[in-house]
Amino acid sequence: MCGIVGYIGKKNASPILIDGLKRLEYRGYDSAGIALLNGTLHIHKKKGKVADLEQILPEFSDSLTIGIGHTRWATHGEPNDVNAHPHTNEAGDIAVIHNGIIENYGAIRAELQRKGHKFKGDTDTEVLAHLIDEIWNEADCDFETAIRLALKEVDGTYGLCAITSREPDKIVTARNGSPLIIGVGEDEFLIGSDASPIVSHTRKVIYLNDGEMAILTRDSYTIKTIENVTMPKAIDELTFGIAEIEKAGFDHFMLKEIFEQPEAIENSMRGRALPNEGQVRLGGIREHIDRLRNAKRIIICACGTSWHSGLVGEYLIEEYARIPVEVEYASEFRYRHPILSKDDVVIAISQSGETADTLAAIREAKAKGALVLGICNVVGSSIARETDCGIYTHAGPEIGVASTKAFTAQVTVLVLLALALSQKRTLSDEQTKDIIQDLYQLPKKVQEILNLNEEIFEMAKVFKDARNFLYLGRGFNFPVALEGALKLKEISYIHAEGYPAAEMKHGPIALIDENMPVVFIANKDSSYQKIISNIEEVRSRKGRVIVIASEGDNDIDKLAEFVIHIPDAMMPLMPLLTVIPLQLLAYHIAVLRGCDVDQPRNLAKSVTVE
Ligand code: AGP
Ligand code: GLU
Repeated sequence: MCGIVGYIGKKNASPILIDGLKRLEYRGYDSAGIALLNGTLHIHKKKGKVADLEQILPEFSDSLTIGIGHTRWATHGEPNDVNAHPHTNEAGDIAVIHNGIIENYGAIRAELQRKGHKFKGDTDTEVLAHLIDEIWNEADCDFETAIRLALKEVDGTYGLCAITSREPDKIVTARNGSPLIIGVGEDEFLIGSDASPIVSHTRKVIYLNDGEMAILTRDSYTIKTIENVTMPKAIDELTFGIAEIEKAGFDHFMLKEIFEQPEAIENSMRGRALPNEGQVRLGGIREHIDRLRNAKRIIICACGTSWHSGLVGEYLIEEYARIPVEVEYASEFRYRHPILSKDDVVIAISQSGETADTLAAIREAKAKGALVLGICNVVGSSIARETDCGIYTHAGPEIGVASTKAFTAQVTVLVLLALALSQKRTLSDEQTKDIIQDLYQLPKKVQEILNLNEEIFEMAKVFKDARNFLYLGRGFNFPVALEGALKLKEISYIHAEGYPAAEMKHGPIALIDENMPVVFIANKDSSYQKIISNIEEVRSRKGRVIVIASEGDNDIDKLAEFVIHIPDAMMPLMPLLTVIPLQLLAYHIAVLRGCDVDQPRNLAKSVTVE
C-alpha cells in the first residue's frame, strides 16, 4: 500500500533511494528503511519520517550501487523499527521490501516456526523473507526461482523487491495487486511503486502486470510470469510530471480516494470473508468472540463520518445478529456517566485511531469493565493499542481531510463483524454465504457508479450556488443521508442537513421552497413507496428534487429534476453504493465553488483535542 523504490546501476545507490523515498512521502507512511548491497547487505530502518532514517545512515561508499527502499504503512504489526522494511531471513543475507498483504502469512509463519525459523517482528512481509530462504535452501536453484516458488505459496497482494548477497548483482521484483514500475536508464534500472521516484532519472518505463516478475542486473532485464514464462514487454514513455503522479492523475487526493473505493472494499474483506464456506474469519477478535456474541448490548462510539458508519453498524448488527445496539457521539458518551457493565461491548470506530474524544470514550468504557473493540484504519494507532481487540479496515492511507474510502471500508468491516456475531446463532452458513457473495459483487458495482462521474459533475454545475441542501433517506440509507450532508458542508461550506425521510414532515418541511435542493436516496427497497410519498411532498412545495434511484427504475425520472441510477444490492449493503454519488456530488460542487477540497478551512485530518 505504501512506497517502494529500487536502484541498480553504477551510481551510489543511497542518495537515489533516499530521494525516491522522499518523493513517495505524499502517500503517508509510518516508517522507512533501505537495504544496500555490495558483498554484504547493509540494512537501516526507522519508525517515523525519511528524515529520521537519514539521521541514522552512515556515510556510504560509492561501491554500494544496488539497493531497495521502502516507506511502510503498517497493516500487520505496529509501526516500529523492527517491523519497518526491509525484512531479512535469519542469516541476514536476503532482504525483502513489500507493499500489500500476505493473507496466509499466519499459516506459513507457523509452518516455518515448526521448521525452526525465528522471527524478529510481526509483519506478514518478514514471513516472505524466511519462506524464500527456506525454499532456496531446500531446492537446488537460483534466487529468482526461490522467489518464484515462494510466491506460488502465497495468497494475497504484493509489490515486492528482493536482493541477496548470495547473488549480489541483481534485484528481483514481482507484482500481484500492488503496482510496480521499472525505469530503464543508461546502464541502470530503477523500480518504483509509482513513477515518482523514477521520473527525475528516466522517462522510459516498463509497467509490470499482476503475476509478473522482473530480474534486473546492471545491463539487462528479464520479465517473466511467476509461472516462468518469459514475457516480451514494451518500453513506455512517461508523459506526466510529479504532481500528477502523486495524485495518480486525479486533481485532488479526495477524488483519488473516492476512486480507490473498489480496492479499499476489497482489501477490507480480503482473506476474511470466505464466499465458498459461508464463513467470516476475523483474527483480531477471535479470542473474544464468545463474549462478543453473548453481549447484552453493544454501544458504538465515534465521531463525524466514523459515527455515521457506526449508525450503519447499528442497523447491520441488529438486523443480522439481533443484539441491541446504541450509537453514541464519543464526546457525549464520555461526559454523561454512562451505565456500563461487563456484559456490554463498546465498539470504537476511527479512521485515524487518534481522535481524542473517541480515545476518552474507550478509557471510560474500559474503566467500567466493558469489552472494547476498535475498528481503525491506522495500524498501531492509539485507539488500536488501547482497545481489547480489533479489526483493521485496510483502506490504505487517507490524505484528503474529508473521509471517503475510510467510510466504505468501515462499513465493509461492520458487515463482516455483524456476520461474525451472527454465525452459529442467528444466521445459517447458507444465509451468510448469500450475503458474502453479494458483498463480493460490490467493488464492481462501486466502479459502475464511479463511471457516472461526468453525469454527477453536470448535476453539480446546476446546484453549485445553492445556499442549503437537504438529504433524506430511510432505513440503512438514513446514515448515508447524514454522511452526504456532512461531505457537502465540510468541503463546499454549503449548509446541509441529513434527516430520516419521514422526519421531514415534522419540521424541515418548513424550509422547502423553490431554492431548496433535496437529495433523496430512493432505491427499490421495502420503504420505496413511502419515500415516493416524501418526494411528492417536496415537489408540491416546489423543492428541487435530486434522486439516487435503482437502475431500471425509470418511473421515478418524472418526479425529479435529476436522477442518478445506480445498481442495487441487498438492502443492508446499500450504504456502500448509495454513498458514492453523494461523495462525488459534494466533491464537484466544492471544486466548482473554488474551495480547497483536500484541506477545507478549519478542519484537521485527525482531531487530537477534546
Ligand atoms: C470526516 O470527513 C471528517 N473529517 C471527520 O468528521 C472525521 O470523520 C472525524 O473527525 C473522526 O475521525 P476519525 O475517524 O479519524 O476518528
Ligand atoms: N503488510 C506489510 C506490513 O504491514 C506491508 C505494508 C505496506 O504496504 O506498507 O508491513
